Formats: sequence, C-alpha cells, structure tokens
Amino acid sequence: VPSVIVAIDGPSGTGKSSTSKAVAARLGLSYLDTGAQYRAITWWMVTNGIDLDDPTAIAAVAGKPEIVSGTDPAAPAITVDGVDVSGPIRTQEVTSSVSAVSAVPEVRARITELQRSIAAAAEGGIVVEGRDIGTTVLPDADLKIFLTASPEARAARRSGELQGADVNATREALLKRDAADSSRKTSPLAKAGDAVEVDTTDLTLAQVVECVVTLVEEKR
Ligand code: C5P
Repeated sequence: VPSVIVAIDGPSGTGKSSTSKAVAARLGLSYLDTGAQYRAITWWMVTNGIDLDDPTAIAAVAGKPEIVSGTDPAAPAITVDGVDVSGPIRTQEVTSSVSAVSAVPEVRARITELQRSIAAAAEGGIVVEGRDIGTTVLPDADLKIFLTASPEARAARRSGELQGADVNATREALLKRDAADSSRKTSPLAKAGDAVEVDTTDLTLAQVVECVVTLVEEKR
C-alpha cells in the first residue's frame, strides 16, 4: 500500500482531533496534532514568564524549547525539554494565550520545519491536523480536508469536553480564537483551494470518519 499524507484543517470544535486520530488508527497511519505543538511552545513561554504582549520577546526565544511529538494515534504524547506536557497544554491559560504565540512568524517557521520533518519521516503515511497544513505546511498532501460546523455545534462539543463549562462563554472564547487565527498575517486558518470541505454540524463522529476514510481510499 503506497504511503499517503492527509491534511485535516479547520477551526476549533469541528472534530479535527477526534476525526484525525480515528482515521489514522483505522488506516494504520501516524498522527500529528500540530495544535498541541503550538500549545506546547505557549506552555513553555507562560512557564518561563515571557511577555506574551511582546512579539519581539516571543520571537527571541522561539527556538529555545525542544518539542518532541509522539505520532501514535492511540497515545499522542508531547514533551517539552523532556517533560510530558500532554495535560498542562490543555489549561484555560494556555488556550487563551496560544493565538498570540502562534501568530509570531519565528514561532511558525520553527514549528513548520518540525512538522515537515515529522511528516517526511512517517513510514506508511500520516494524518496531520491543524489550521494551515493544506495551505502552508504540506501543500502537496495527497488529500486535504477542511472541517466546518456551526458555532453552536462547536461550542456544545467543546463545553461537553470541558465538563460543566458554560456554553455561551465557551462559544465566545472559541470565536475569538478563530478570529485571531484567521486574521493573522502569517499562514492564517484557511481552506486550501483543493481541500474537500466537510460540514460536521449534523454528522456523528463515526460518519465523519467514514467519509474521510472513503476519500483516503479513493486516493490510494
Ligand atoms: O487545535 P488546537 O485548538 O489545539 O490549536 C491551538 C492553537 O494553535 C490554535 O488556536 C492556533 O492558534 C494554533 N495553531 C496554528 N496552526 C496550526 C495548528 C494550531 O496556528 N496548524
């Protein structure tokens, strides 16, 4: 079976991570969560007291933390300087700070390079999920998917994951992050011209996975 590279992009709460992991597991492919990498570098900046209102300060230390991403869809661990940060990168503090860090070109350049080397090393193929994978990181991907969903569906999913979180507050925070990610200058969140758009609002996870698996099989 030839190797295949699948790019899955879209805003938060559209089911990117669940879909990407399930598709990778089904097809025996590696998996890379690029949002986790931006969260990891953000966690390091927060932990080291870097002023996140100062892009120059962020740029100056962008190369410092060593980030290692696991690519097993069943257990995608991520470490920063040898410390497993899989839990800490999901805090509210990191989530609300990540867009400011990921907008800095020096951060993107370094994380993009890391992503490309991981994709190139993945034997058999890989599913890479993010915001700019189809447009910037892997423009030659064999298949590009762009997931969307209504703001209401996205907020409902996220507040379900965050156990007891207020749906309206979650919706506002999510839309604010998407607006920041979509309007930044360097590789914003965008649908690639050749991406297949899948609206997941009224679909179950199983249905989305089935749809993507079918599209991958057609490409192989
Ligand atoms: O997917 P997740 O919500 O974990 O992504 C966290 C943040 O990382 C996004 O809001 C965005 O700022 C950044 N990101 C990015 N480019 C990617 C993936 C994530 O800028 N390819």
